[in-house]
Amino acid sequence: IRKIGVFTSGGDAPGMNAAIRAVVRACTYYKKDAYGIMRGYEGMIEGDLVKLGARSVGNIIQRGGTILKSARSEEFRTAEGRKKAYENLKAEGIEALVAIGGDGTFTGLHKFYEEYRVPSVCIPGTIDNDLPGTDYTIGYDTATNTAVEAIDRIRDTALSHNRLFFVEVMGRNSGYIAINSGIAGGATGIVIPEENMSFDQLYNLLGADKETSKKSNLIVVAEGSKIGDANTLARKVAERSSYFDIKVTILGHLQRGGAPTYFDRVLASKMGIAAVEGLMQGQKDVMVGIKDNKIVYNDFNTIMAQKHHEIDSESLRIAKILSI
Ligand code: F6P
Repeated sequence: IRKIGVFTSGGDAPGMNAAIRAVVRACTYYKKDAYGIMRGYEGMIEGDLVKLGARSVGNIIQRGGTILKSARSEEFRTAEGRKKAYENLKAEGIEALVAIGGDGTFTGLHKFYEEYRVPSVCIPGTIDNDLPGTDYTIGYDTATNTAVEAIDRIRDTALSHNRLFFVEVMGRNSGYIAINSGIAGGATGIVIPEENMSFDQLYNLLGADKETSKKSNLIVVAEGSKIGDANTLARKVAERSSYFDIKVTILGHLQRGGAPTYFDRVLASKMGIAAVEGLMQGQKDVMVGIKDNKIVYNDFNTIMAQKHHEIDSESLRIAKILSI
């Protein structure tokens, strides 16, 4: 393999730039040519490629977002779209791909591999930490730290006004950001899709019907909550009791931006190098992961069959004890 294409796709995540940098520098180190593919699969279909060298990825390790930009491509879902993409890669002589993204990105690349046999390595980059085959995805640590910082600020004002806040965090169908920002932020309750907490259980946690209960509380709600989003839960509590002065804050996309933490920078650097080394060793259709602090290559079919990255029962147990 002499020419390797790298791209970011799906939702951006802090640390993606550090991963791009590591891929490009590993290519330079091993005397391979690196090409950046702009806007993920869209750029692949349009032939929007840029040659990258060790110096073109300077001063990006600390930057959020992705210098290669990102998109969610509908056209790549079609056979014609993938054919165009393949022809562009072939014309440029690109023989292998490194994708940085989430499960949508990987599913597309797996299909592409099955059709055109272009050796591909995926690097898990998503704030959701929802991918099996790795303990951590790039961006998750930063997003969770951002959520904790926001929760700390909300707590100040919640206490001053004796208010009950529902804080909604991202994560798609995963409760990772919620459970750990909730534990670290000292939340009274944490609502995540993985746990079958009923609305009544949540309501009882607040102790609204006891005159002595505290009025200032903070509930962290994962956006994938199965018992309603933060606005719905706030409305339902208000319908049942006038005891609380209730506010809702949806953290939204602020969790996606910002400088990556040291953890995400190091993780991205390890995974970026592992992706290039994996291709050189003959890996073809895999996702890089980190398990017990060691790099692993997961066969694509095996990890996709697992589907969800489960939250460890210890975190759930801790959250329960602390919300007493
Ligand atoms: O997958 C990352 C993520 O930020 C999810 O947490 C969220 O549900 C989704 O992307 C939001 O997508 P978009 O940026 O397209 O609105």
